[in-house]
Formats: sequence, C-alpha cells, structure tokens
Amino acid sequence: MKKFYLTTPIYYVNDEPHIGHTYTTTIADVIHRYYKSLGYETFFLTGTDEHGTKINEAAKKNSLNPKQYCDMIAEKFKLTWQQLGIKYSNFIRTTDEYHKDTVQLVLQKIYDKKDIYKSNYEGLYCINCEKFMSEEELVDGLCIYHNTKPLFYKEENYFFRLSKYKDIIFEKIKNDEIQIIPDTRKNEILGKLQLPLEDISISRKNLKWAISLPFDNEQTVYVWIDALINYLSGIDFFDIKFKPSIYKKFWPCDLHLIGKDILWFHSVIWPAILLSLEIDLPKKILAHGFFTVEGKKMSKTLCNVIRPKQLIELFGVDATRMLILSTFPLGTDGNFSLSEMKEKYNQDLADNYGNLVLRTFSMIQKYFYNDIKIKKISYKIKEKILECVKNYKFQFENFELHKLSETILSLTSFANKYIQQKTPWILAKEKKVEELNQVLSDLLFCIKSATLLFYPIMPNVSLEVLKSFGETNNFEKEFVSLIENYEVNITKEKISSLDILFKKLQ
Ligand code: MSP
Repeated sequence: MKKFYLTTPIYYVNDEPHIGHTYTTTIADVIHRYYKSLGYETFFLTGTDEHGTKINEAAKKNSLNPKQYCDMIAEKFKLTWQQLGIKYSNFIRTTDEYHKDTVQLVLQKIYDKKDIYKSNYEGLYCINCEKFMSEEELVDGLCIYHNTKPLFYKEENYFFRLSKYKDIIFEKIKNDEIQIIPDTRKNEILGKLQLPLEDISISRKNLKWAISLPFDNEQTVYVWIDALINYLSGIDFFDIKFKPSIYKKFWPCDLHLIGKDILWFHSVIWPAILLSLEIDLPKKILAHGFFTVEGKKMSKTLCNVIRPKQLIELFGVDATRMLILSTFPLGTDGNFSLSEMKEKYNQDLADNYGNLVLRTFSMIQKYFYNDIKIKKISYKIKEKILECVKNYKFQFENFELHKLSETILSLTSFANKYIQQKTPWILAKEKKVEELNQVLSDLLFCIKSATLLFYPIMPNVSLEVLKSFGETNNFEKEFVSLIENYEVNITKEKISSLDILFKKLQ
C-alpha cells in the first residue's frame, strides 16, 4: 500500500486564521485529496501552536486564562478549515496531553543521549518569531519579518548539540535525501550550513505557559522545540494515545509544507532532533513564498489583513480554494489582489468552466430531454484530454500547483471552441441527430474529465457536477482511471439538470 504523510505548520493562536494560514492549509488539502483519490493511504496533519511568550498577553487582553483563550482560537481554526472544505486526519494542539507527554519523552531521550547540556545564553530574541536572533539577521536593529526590536535575554538554559549534526544534515540536503523545494531555498540553507553553527538554547527559565522539562522542572521547553515535535505526537509515534499507535505506520513524513520564514527550523533543527532520536528523516520540505496584499505587507497596523471568510462570502468555498491556489507559483513571493481575483473568477469559472457545463447541459435537455445516448469519444477529444491529464500529473508531481487550473481550463476552453465550431443548434435545426449526439457526447467527456481533475481543488462543485452524471459512488476508481490510464467513461445515459455553478460578479 502506498502511503503519504503530509503536514502544515501548526499555527500560533495569537491571531485568528488569515489568508497566510489559509494559503498553506488549502494547498495541503489539495495535495492530500490528490494522493487520497489516487488510492494512497494518507495522513494529513494540521493544528495549533499554543505555548509561548505572546499567549499570556493575548489571553489577558481577552480577559481569559491562557487555556481558555487557546480553546477559543483553536476552535476558530477548526471552524475555518471546515468552512473551506479542509479535511485533515488529525488536528494536533500543543496543549493536548498526548502531545505534552510526547515532548517530555523526546527531550528525555535526547538528554539521555547527552545531546542536551546546561550553559548560559546571552543574546537577542524576537518574541513575534519566537526565535533567537543574531545581529546579522537584523536590518537597522529590527526583525525583518515583524519590524520590531528583539529583546535582550541573559539566562542559564539547556542547549541542544545542533553543531554535532551539521555535517550529516548538510550532506543529506545536498544529495536530496531531505529534498528542499524550490532549489533556491535548498541553496540558501546549504549556504547557511557552511557558516559556523552554534548549539541552540532549548529551554526557558521564566516562561510558565509552556511544557516543563522532564529533567528540570525549573525550566520549560522552548516553544519551537515543543512545536516541531507535533509531527511525531500528531501520528502518536510513541504509542502514547492509542497503545499501540494506529498511525505510526505513516512515518517518515513525505511532505512538510511550510512558509519560507520557518525553513531553517524544519530543514536543520528538526532533522537534527530526529537524528539524535535515531528516527527516519522527512523526505520533502516545500517552502512557499510570502505574499503581499494589493502590493503591501499584510499587517494589522495597515488594516489590510484578509480573512478567509471575506473571500468565501465573495466567491464561495470552491472558487476561493481555486483562486488561492492559482494566484502565484508556490515557491515564490506573490501578491493578492481582490480585483484580479474577481477578474479571474469571472473569466475562468463563470465564463469558461461554469458556462461550458450549463450550455452543454441545457442543450442536452433541449434536444434530447436529458436522455442522451453516449457515443464513443472522438479521437481529437481523446487526444486533448490526454494532453491535459499529462500536464496535470506533471504539475502535481513537481508542485507547479498554480498551473493546475490553467491546465484544466485549457480543456474547457477547447470544449467551448468546439461548440462554436460544431454549432449544435444548426445540427439540431437540420435534424442531423447522429452528429449532434456525437458533439454533445464529446462535450460530456470533456466536462467529466475537467470535473474529475478539478476535484482536489474544488471538491464540492466537482461532486455536484459528477452527481448530475449519476455517478459519484465510483469517484476514486474514475479518478485513478483518468490519471493513470487517461480514460474517462460515462455509463449512465440520463443527465440531470444543474443550477448555475458560478454567478458572475460585477
Ligand atoms: N507556529 C509556527 C509554526 C510551527 S510548525 C512546527 C508559526 N506559526 S505562524 O502562525 O506564525 O505561521 C504559520 C505559517 O503561516 C508559516 O508557514 C508562515 O509562513 C505562514 N504565513 C504567515 N503569514 C504569511 C504571509 N503573509 N504569506 C505567506 N505565508 C505566511 O510560524
């Protein structure tokens, strides 16, 4: 059985979900649905990162204790993912007991291996990144991501022997045993690994809202170490929750999907922890870019934070997913513009795909009273579908996900042109029934293929259209048959009517 274990970062609960979180999670859901539909046994993990310096403050502002506050925000994340049709396998919270137990177990193991020692820490810390920083990482003394001045810390901490694993991690990244995508990010990490690498502090003395160290209850676990371990606790790697774990078989992780700002943690610190534990390393780490909103950095102070709810209200769930995915290439930085999204929605979904479906279905209703005899697919149509599926597969395998919709839409544009060329209304007028039947059958083959291909991106619309073909039970079989054998079949001859799929926006 082929398996696929995929993760998103776990999100800080100091804010409600915004478009940044939505971007990563939606992409993860699309990838997950693709592999699941292909018959892989899959596990999709997401969740919330609930300890840390900022949570106390945020809870106080809301007149709640930290746990109550975390419960409230974790619920908001879950609700948002539900609204967006995101179907994860597990939602891990770092305040879950089995996560806390896992963290303590991991730290004890590393401590027993003598990879943890006590020393003095003196330096800078950005509480927004929850990260220790060197002077060189700052611009004008400020954190480049948050424009805030890091705080100065001096305390006795426990340190992890990161330096011990530097050379082996360098080799594993270089030869793609841990594949970092895109290449530019891989080179960035390899470059950084050629500079001197210090051990890292992994505990804090005065931070109470955190997990205690198992070997010193005066100190708590540094939030990033706590957070990274979610990838183990989330599948119950140490048999803590289920005894024995039913999910352990998914290890190692096939894909960590993250933003570029947290690549160092995932590609260097995380593998080092796993090497110390003697556990297999993740196979791929994909770091996506950052985006701006209408050309500006998204921030609360600029009041330009986009929440997924705004997009869902405007475009509906499926179109929101499609637009988020298609806006810019996964690995690069990009820009979100509502006006461009509207244009894309009208052109691609309302006028192209949506219109093709409605036009074809209404012709079938008008000329055949919905009872159409399906003819053998024409060669030209079969060729076009083949080309489209080949590109689609390539794009999935190479994470060119922004091109997927374009690829599917090339098939629907082709079908729309086919209507113009074949002029079914003239065929009907001239009573050329056989020819008319062939054209409409070909159009149905195009629609069915495009609709199956749209499934990972727009699952609701896709299933609704497939339902009108009377066939949703065998969805996975049909998906596999299209992707692996380039074959699409229509078995029922009765097509039921559909409402408008995408209303045009003004
Ligand atoms: N809690 C850590 C992750 C721990 S994973 C073991 C964290 N959380 S976060 O909520 O701040 O960010 C989560 C993800 O959202 C990151 O991958 C980050 O890159 C992404 N984004 C947040 N704002 C973003 C943009 N403006 N653009 C693109 N992605 C952004 O980091």
